[in-house]
Amino acid sequence: MSTNTTTTSNTGDNKVKKNTFTVIDNRTGKSYEIPINNETLKAIDFRAIKESPEDFGTMLYDPGYYNTAVCKSEITYIDGDRGILEYRGYPIEELAEKSSFLEVAYLLIYGDLPNINQLNLWTTKIMNHTFIHENLIQLMKSFRYDAHPMGMLISSMSAMSTFYPEANPALAGVDIYKNKLLMNKQIFRILGKLPTIAACAYRHRIGRPYNNPTDTLSYTENFLYMLDRLSETSYKPHPTLTRALDKLFIIHADHELNCSTATMRQISSTLVDPYTAVAGSAGALYGPLHGGANEAVLRMLESIGTKDNIPNFLQLVKQKKQRLMGFGHRVYKSYDPRAKILKKVTEEVFELLGKNPLMEIATELERIALSDSYFIDRQLYPNVDFYSGIIYKSMGFPTDMFPVLFSIPRAAGWLAHWVEELQDPDLRIFRPRQIYLGKRGCKYVPLSGRPMPQDTNAVLSSYVSGFDKRRDVSEIDGVNSPVNTQQNLSASVGSPKLTDETKAIPKTASGSKSAINQSIEQSFGEKFSLNN
Ligand code: CMC
Repeated sequence: MSTNTTTTSNTGDNKVKKNTFTVIDNRTGKSYEIPINNETLKAIDFRAIKESPEDFGTMLYDPGYYNTAVCKSEITYIDGDRGILEYRGYPIEELAEKSSFLEVAYLLIYGDLPNINQLNLWTTKIMNHTFIHENLIQLMKSFRYDAHPMGMLISSMSAMSTFYPEANPALAGVDIYKNKLLMNKQIFRILGKLPTIAACAYRHRIGRPYNNPTDTLSYTENFLYMLDRLSETSYKPHPTLTRALDKLFIIHADHELNCSTATMRQISSTLVDPYTAVAGSAGALYGPLHGGANEAVLRMLESIGTKDNIPNFLQLVKQKKQRLMGFGHRVYKSYDPRAKILKKVTEEVFELLGKNPLMEIATELERIALSDSYFIDRQLYPNVDFYSGIIYKSMGFPTDMFPVLFSIPRAAGWLAHWVEELQDPDLRIFRPRQIYLGKRGCKYVPLSGRPMPQDTNAVLSSYVSGFDKRRDVSEIDGVNSPVNTQQNLSASVGSPKLTDETKAIPKTASGSKSAINQSIEQSFGEKFSLNN
């Protein structure tokens, strides 16, 4: 508990301006003076506010961390109302226009833009760490032919922790990252190898042999090279596409405590190795409300199909039956500055490769939404993902590569936060509180005495494949499985039975919504709609 909190009687006589809040507990009439630092109150100071001494004390309830600061940071500044984004004090617009991605990654991690010597050394270090271990390549090759590249990336990054035991605090000691040389080594490895892993995941999906990286090209050029080179001895991606990708990487590199970066800080607060932490952060990024949003935007635009369908679609959004993906942001309550930069990049890419027909639907959707009171009142504007998906699509990337293309640059931000966090004297393991509303003091009933309601299997009901249906009525090794008891069979009539759904669903990871619906229908003999 903070020692700064003082309890005073409330005289209401605060004539001298003080940097404190006075909180009056109307249950007890006591007042508490709570210090304000950086316009912030310490949540722990509220613990002193209690009705009687044996109480736990007051907590702050903040689902989704709407208004909770969990760290002090000097990396990225966002003013969501004015649409301002700065990395280490530099406006994002200028960085996107004038810097390379690796310069920006250096800026984020080490605090300022590199000079020419620093940039050369940094680039060499990263590009010297682009090769991945043969065993990791074997692991990647063992994925199914159509595995989602994001699943491959997350698993491969996690597997990397097993390749470098000296970098694992669980094995080498909790204090190892006081050693900056060791820290730098992991940064070079992660930033160097991530594009290689991403390219291998992509090549795997399209059934082509993986390319080795080359250090004769820039970071983004090398990535495009690994994606696209066939058998040429000299293959160089088009400079417009390299620059477009570099800009996309720059604007995606950090965004202060977005969900995946908060995840990075949360996981790293346990002092786990950075590979596991990056894998976990990439997992958070994969969700459709975060880094998966650009993939979801594309699928949304494809499902809208024509401009004529936009009003109907927006009607469904307003009825909360659909979500307008690529719109809205936890922090920006005006136009996301990254979306503005992307609109310009879109034009550069279109000039080289031709216009994507989805762009017309997107611009019309934006126009109508921005003049509709539902979106105006809620301050919902296009975010970075509204246009990034269209650019990626126009550049020929398959939709499921989008979160991968987000993860590569965001790793620079994750690592900047990792470094800052491990050097923070205030660092403590993340451990939020809960408000417990469940039962207490239940009387234990032995198995034989527990009630047997009619719909006994309702809780565990799930979809059942034809394969499982046949197996459920069979006798296996002379024994009936729990699914195959008379009671369970009769209880499940009219409702799906308990089964392991994952065994039954055919490969759908990379399919469109309709393909997924169709395969579920084939497996389970039931109509299903992912739009439900
Ligand atoms: N479409 C329709 N309604 C929306 C949307 C949307 N995209 N976003 C917010 N709303 C509504 C929401 O239903 C709520 O309405 P009401 O007040 O009637 O309940 C109101 O606006 C406030 O929304 P919220 O859910 O409290 O806002 P949030 O800060 O929790 O969510 C968000 C932020 C980004 C998750 C949300 O805006 C969203 O789901 N957007 C679509 C997904 C998306 O584009 N995500 C990418 C974010 S940018 C990339 C990144 O940084 O990760």
